[in-house]
Amino acid sequence: MTLRRFLPALALLLAAPPAFAQPKPEPADFLLPDESKLAPFKDTVPLVFVTSNQPEWKALKGFWTEGTQEDVDPATGAKVTRKVVRIRVPLGITQAPRVPAENPMTAAKWELGKKLYFDKVLSTDNTISCATCHEPAKGFGDAKRTSTGIGGAVGGVNAPTVFNSAFNRFQFWDGRAASLEDQAQGPVGNPKEMFAGKGDPWHEAVARLRANPEYVKAFGAAFGHAPTRDAAAKAIATYERTVLLGDSLHDRAEALMRKRVIEEESGKFVLKAEDYAAALKAEFARKGPALADLGLDPQKDAAKADEFGKKLVNGRDLFFGKARCANCHSGDTFTDHGFHNLGVGAKDGTLPTDEFGRFVPLPTGHKDPALVGAFKTPGTRGLLASAPYMHSGDEKTLEQVVDFYDRGGNVNAWLSPNMRDLAAEGAYVKARAAGQKVDPAVKTYGPTNKPIIPLKLNLTADEKANLVLFLKALNGDPLDPLLSDPAKFPAK
Ligand code: HEC
Ligand code: HEC
Repeated sequence: MTLRRFLPALALLLAAPPAFAQPKPEPADFLLPDESKLAPFKDTVPLVFVTSNQPEWKALKGFWTEGTQEDVDPATGAKVTRKVVRIRVPLGITQAPRVPAENPMTAAKWELGKKLYFDKVLSTDNTISCATCHEPAKGFGDAKRTSTGIGGAVGGVNAPTVFNSAFNRFQFWDGRAASLEDQAQGPVGNPKEMFAGKGDPWHEAVARLRANPEYVKAFGAAFGHAPTRDAAAKAIATYERTVLLGDSLHDRAEALMRKRVIEEESGKFVLKAEDYAAALKAEFARKGPALADLGLDPQKDAAKADEFGKKLVNGRDLFFGKARCANCHSGDTFTDHGFHNLGVGAKDGTLPTDEFGRFVPLPTGHKDPALVGAFKTPGTRGLLASAPYMHSGDEKTLEQVVDFYDRGGNVNAWLSPNMRDLAAEGAYVKARAAGQKVDPAVKTYGPTNKPIIPLKLNLTADEKANLVLFLKALNGDPLDPLLSDPAKFPAK
């Protein structure tokens, strides 16, 4: 066909849609915003994080403080004064979470996200919400060894906390989701969590949301269109991004230490027993929740502040020193965001084949054998309500966790070098090559019979107890009811 003959035919095709065309169903995954449904710029209320480094932090009354800010309307260039909500980042968390450019935080989105997080409507039979497995009263976990989802289905791993997940570089124990938005879409389609349908899980969930006029209105206000999967994920992530935990006794001791060092002009920013003791005395004065966390009676134990100050500074020094915890649990949220094989789940030197961790989701062409059996380092704040611990929920108490590390984890072929006594391994290899007698209890792997020797910490009973006490001092004050109480929303 020549071009001249082809063009008129093409024009005809474009002009007249075939008579059999059906109206397309509204896409469930995403829609473009309808400007007429969107709130005008001046009426959109942004959420702004304020950290303790910023001068206005002290004036914030609680987690959620409404105020105003001067802005320029990008559409008209006009100056506007608009409402803003300042979100108080808790003491001890020195940076605000990163927010993806395509999902700016607004009050309308946060409220919708909070509703969705606590609403069972996202599950096929209206029995399970995100909060079923990430419950505020259970440290935003479920306090079960592994989770129970729809129809009583039992999952394979322990539910990690949502606390401070805003800072995670990767989501899930094996890091297979890149963002909170990405992660939030998983459970809705998971037959062990929220899905018991036959079709496309999100198309069904979106249909349920579109059948609810309140959700249609709330999605309209936040996104300018009907409910979609993309918008639901964005809203849930917006709420989760504010579930920040800090404000622990340890953070208060650090703040007191800074004040002391500045007053002394010593320049030595190092925590002392007196800093923990001072934080404890303040806690006794306000009958604060950290007392119960440490097993102290607010009425009877006030005289123990100095004694506990000494224990806590010892626990802290162990965490950052001899016990090597901070090799992996570091920074504001006590994680290196890395993946390590500690041998959780290994028995008699063998790792079960379904416990390959980070290695599994790494794309083909990027598989790193060093990450076989490696799981994400969780943070160590807010641990008290979320027992049992580890991805398997194998360790029932913090004491058991500390014993686990004291013996160097569980030996297996891929045990992290950070958990191994490399000097002893070297000596073993040398002795064996020289034909000397070697410890028959050492497990060896592979064609070279490579020895793997876990690094024992040799902590004393007192040291173990103090380390546990330090972990308890990281528990933190309970969250504002606006975050933890499903029924509470900011007054309109
Ligand atoms: C049936 C229990 C269950 C339900 C329901 C559930 N989760 Fe989870 N969640 C888990 C488990 C178990 C994991 C860990 C899974 C893994 O790592 O393979 C997890 C992981 C996560 C993580 C990653 C945290 C981290 O540190 O890696 C976040 C965030 C999260 N869930 C949020 C949600 C949200 C939001 C919803 C609702 C849309 C939800 N969960 C529904 C059990 C559940
Ligand atoms: C080599 C890195 C590394 C070192 C060193 C380390 N951890 Fe961990 N920690 C991890 C990883 C990875 C996990 C999760 C492992 C898993 O579930 O397979 C974890 C899990 C935990 C948990 C469970 C948290 C939860 O929510 O389930 C606690 C508590 C903990 N570690 C405390 C400590 C203490 C205390 C020390 C020092 C004695 C320490 N860790 C040393 C990497 C490390």
